[in-house]
Amino acid sequence: MHKLTHRFGLTLFVLLSLYFVSRRFNVDNAEEISTKAFIKPFISYAPSFFTAPDNKLIACEISKSMSQLTLNLMCLLYNETQYLADNNSFSDTWATSNRSCTKEFNFLNPSEVLKIDKNTVRFAFVRDPFRRFVSLYLNKCVNKNECYDCGSDMRCVVEKIYNSFYDIQNSRNETLKIGHIEAHAAPVTWNCNFHQGIEKWELLAMGSDTEERVSSAARLADILRKQGVRGSLVEKIHKNILTAETAHSTHKSSNRYEAERQVREDPFVRDYLHKIYLFDYLVFPFDRRVLDTAYQKIDSKLFLEEVAK
Ligand SMILES: *[C@@H]1O[C@H](CO)[C@@H](O)[C@H](O)[C@H]1NC(C)=O
Ligand SMILES: *[C@@H]1O[C@H](CO)[C@@H](O)[C@H](O)[C@H]1NC(C)=O
Ligand SMILES: *[C@@H]1O[C@H](CO)[C@@H](O)[C@H](O)[C@H]1NC(C)=O
Ligand SMILES: *[C@@H]1O[C@H](CO)[C@@H](O)[C@H](O)[C@H]1NC(C)=O
Repeated sequence: MHKLTHRFGLTLFVLLSLYFVSRRFNVDNAEEISTKAFIKPFISYAPSFFTAPDNKLIACEISKSMSQLTLNLMCLLYNETQYLADNNSFSDTWATSNRSCTKEFNFLNPSEVLKIDKNTVRFAFVRDPFRRFVSLYLNKCVNKNECYDCGSDMRCVVEKIYNSFYDIQNSRNETLKIGHIEAHAAPVTWNCNFHQGIEKWELLAMGSDTEERVSSAARLADILRKQGVRGSLVEKIHKNILTAETAHSTHKSSNRYEAERQVREDPFVRDYLHKIYLFDYLVFPFDRRVLDTAYQKIDSKLFLEEVAK
């Protein structure tokens, strides 16, 4: 009787062990499969910088993330005399203006001296990825019809972008061509050489709520003052950050409403957007409530470790 109990206990132990081993295996397997479908973070892809050596500043341009404003303010700080002589202003765009700064090697390429200087401050505006996608889609796909052969078919656009990034991340080809749409749609983590460490950067969040924008504008103003930019220029830049943003958010076109609705409601589009931008939400402190419920609870650290393997 005693022996039987013992054997039963042993069998139970073996069965339980097998159960847990296989269960763990399944869990690991499932995680591997799920992380594989996502576009990996931290691939260096077409980083774009502006400098203001006198103020020891390096700004990174992230497309559709206050990029125009970043260029305008850095151009002003790079050489105010030239900026005024060119009649440049904060309403200048790539298309309308003749900026001398963009023809200057030192403006676009941070020198080694600037990069290793302990007092150099790096900053970048980072914007909620789904919102950023809506802006890209309206500008490039709807207004300019530049999105592959998709026209304004958002499902077609997200699928093409995803496939393109999937190829890029799995390619070891150093001379890989930088695509027009890809350069604009790249995940936030692919920008700014963030793979070299995001801790070096002052990240100015541009989310949906006004408070966040006001606080990012104030933080940049503090940075500029600390870097010796004179008061009146700081005021001017500060004011432009606030007004540039309000102009966008108070005047919504019907196209924007429709695009935002589709990003919120279309399961096909959402599936791809999650696959493309999930890591941006895990790496940067964006509000995760825009994600599907299942993704809101993901353990960022675990997920990031999984892809790092
Ligand atoms: C700024 O621009 C002015 C006018 O072109 C030029 O004379 C001056 O050398 C420039 N300063 C710097 C630091 O490049
Ligand atoms: C800037 O504006 C002034 C006055 O409007 C004009 O005389 C000058 O030619 C302009 N400079 C450039 C580079 O467009
Ligand atoms: C920009 O400047 C060049 C000469 O430097 C001139 O030929 C061209 O017309 C200017 N374009 C605009 C949009 O002002
Ligand atoms: C790398 O990419 C370039 C440009 O896309 C292409 O011409 C070249 O054949 C590729 N090389 C390899 C080894 O795949």
